Amino acid sequence: MLEVSGIAAQEKLDSEKSHAERNRLGQFATPSALASDMLRLIKSELPKNFKIRFLDPAFGTGAFYSALLGTFNENRIESASGIEIDPHYANHAVELWKGSPLILQISDFFDAKVPAKYKPNLIVCNPPYVRHHHLSSERKGKLQRLVATAAMTKLNGLAGLYCYFLLYAHAWLEEGGYACWLIPSEFLDVNYGAEVKDYLLSKVTLLRIHRFNAASVQFDDALVSSSILWFRKSAPPANHTVEFSFGDSLTKPEILRTVPTSRLKKTAKWNRAALSGTKAKEGTKVRLGDLFDIKRGLATGANDFFILSPEEI
Ligand SMILES: C[S@@+](CC[C@H](N)C(=O)[O-])C[C@H]1O[C@@H](n2cnc3c(N)ncnc32)[C@H](O)[C@@H]1O
Repeated sequence: MLEVSGIAAQEKLDSEKSHAERNRLGQFATPSALASDMLRLIKSELPKNFKIRFLDPAFGTGAFYSALLGTFNENRIESASGIEIDPHYANHAVELWKGSPLILQISDFFDAKVPAKYKPNLIVCNPPYVRHHHLSSERKGKLQRLVATAAMTKLNGLAGLYCYFLLYAHAWLEEGGYACWLIPSEFLDVNYGAEVKDYLLSKVTLLRIHRFNAASVQFDDALVSSSILWFRKSAPPANHTVEFSFGDSLTKPEILRTVPTSRLKKTAKWNRAALSGTKAKEGTKVRLGDLFDIKRGLATGANDFFILSPEEI
């Protein structure tokens, strides 16, 4: 496991780069507790005899690989591979995982080749969060073409790099394999997320979406609210339902709902679809926001009129 010494090494590697450089390649490591929670979720969901061929296509120093080794017995792991574009992190990872069976390619994910023998059946990834305006038009054109072939989807030009990672990985994942992605929550509600949501409803079987509380940002230094996607690469069955959960903890969510995909298909903004009008699982709390649209008030300048004194009440 990437414990104290791993965290210190990660901090040292990060400190050798400027914030701007790390932003350019979305270099913000997954906290090890969160990586472990994700792998625990995966373990509880995978069929018992499932032999894992693992891939993290944005490997960094290997937060997920570390959690994989800490969660599964060796005999469940058939192979493990990673791809990392930046030698600064990749070379450290090579040292760190020397002697383990990891196969690490130092490459741009979009130029790497699927190792035929180890086609992954489990992808776990926290892809770089790079906004679209930091992608050159040439790069965007290339990525759009790759995604069109990999997932038969044309991504909106406003989509960030993480959307390209998610959809391009479709071609890498074995049919019947599983994927767990830690991505910004934006796609749930913004227009450029439409193609991503369409992919999740039509090309794979979406199993769960967990949205973290925006106030408890998972990545102190990247400042984005994050969600976890969990799906299987297989055509979605009829009358399928998706688990939506919300809260600080993936394993003990504050809200857990089951939402039919028929409902998601009709809804552009999934946050709303997920939280309103559906049956809460026993033991989870219903909040005011589940029942009403809550907006910040307008400043009318007429507080005398709107705010009642205790006597008036
Ligand atoms: C958000 S970090 C995640 C790192 C690690 N997997 C973790 O969870 O801590 C994203 C990683 O993707 C790498 N990266 C960025 N663009 C890439 C690309 N085109 N191909 C492969 N890796 C890339 C970055 O250098 C960075 O290490």
